[in-house]
Amino acid sequence: MTALPDPRLRPPQGRTLVDGYGRVARDLRVSVTDRCGLRCTYCMPAEGLPWLPREEILDDEELLRVVGVFVGLGVRQVRLTGGEPLLRRSIVDLVAGLAALTPRPQLAMTTNGVGLAALAGPLARAGLDRVNVSLDTISRAQFLALTRRDRFDDVVAGLAAAAEAGLTPVKVNAVAMRGVNDADVAELLDWCLERGYELRFIEQMPLDAQHGWDRERMVTAAEVRERLERRHTLTPLPDADRGSAPAERFLVDGGPATVGIVASVSAPFCAACDRTRLTADGQVRNCLFSQRETDLRGPLRDGASDAELGELIRGEMWRKAPSHGIGRPGFHQPDRPMSAIGG
Ligand code: 5AD
Ligand code: SF4
Repeated sequence: MTALPDPRLRPPQGRTLVDGYGRVARDLRVSVTDRCGLRCTYCMPAEGLPWLPREEILDDEELLRVVGVFVGLGVRQVRLTGGEPLLRRSIVDLVAGLAALTPRPQLAMTTNGVGLAALAGPLARAGLDRVNVSLDTISRAQFLALTRRDRFDDVVAGLAAAAEAGLTPVKVNAVAMRGVNDADVAELLDWCLERGYELRFIEQMPLDAQHGWDRERMVTAAEVRERLERRHTLTPLPDADRGSAPAERFLVDGGPATVGIVASVSAPFCAACDRTRLTADGQVRNCLFSQRETDLRGPLRDGASDAELGELIRGEMWRKAPSHGIGRPGFHQPDRPMSAIGG
């Protein structure tokens, strides 16, 4: 492994978000709220979490200003996440504001889909390009067990609305959980294939607020693949098609449909990572698993210039670690849960 960059060194002069290992961040994940209406067991406890106080959350004007600085530093795709991004009341206006930035970034969203039936059309008209909808099962009973809410039909309607509104390709994200939905991954794939949705399985990562993750219980990418192959022929697409995308993609039964499997834990893709993150309360995180953050909200509210904010962002990105180190001795789960970082 390469030596860690000397933290006293500053990033080289320039207009991109480069780190000490030569990676360049092009993809910004913005958490627009830490709240969520579901309580997925791999994410939140049943009672929810103490939400961020409203005054700590960047308002639309602040958020657009900060994202504008990121775009000026080479970010080309912005993905809105949460918590559940559709719970932010201004979400459609926010998308319109982002679509007005120059150069206009690609705009994507990761949502639980519950509120999407009503919002897919307005979001598409405001400039949203694509959505990823989280759906782990097509069984209403399993959905209730996994999310602790009886909202399966809303998600199904949300997916249909997204396709109708042209937020395509509509992607579905699924986490396989042992003893819950792991035996049914092929059913989920068939359901998505029938509807033209592109399914991606993601290995469960240690990001739950309850710290209940257990490597031994995690359903691995290899297991998911093996289960899908009992029913379908999967042909790996060449790695060249993958770029910085974390999913290994397969043609299903010769294509053109594909399925993706993201081995975030068993085969990390950190070396190709081009992501950076902004939390709802205005902290830059260079990795989901980072133990540190750089505050932008304080300087922003104290009157910092775009150039000053840009230098803070560049400094944080320069310090990005080579990999997340899950499973290595000394690994610590981040203090913030996934719902407060953004997926
Ligand atoms: N591991 C992997 N994926 C997770 N998600 C939420 N928590 C975890 C976790 N611990 C997924 C959600 C959603 C996206 C934001 O990340 O299902 O699809
Ligand atoms: Fe909500 Fe997403 Fe967490 Fe589920 S995984 S509780 S949908 S934030």
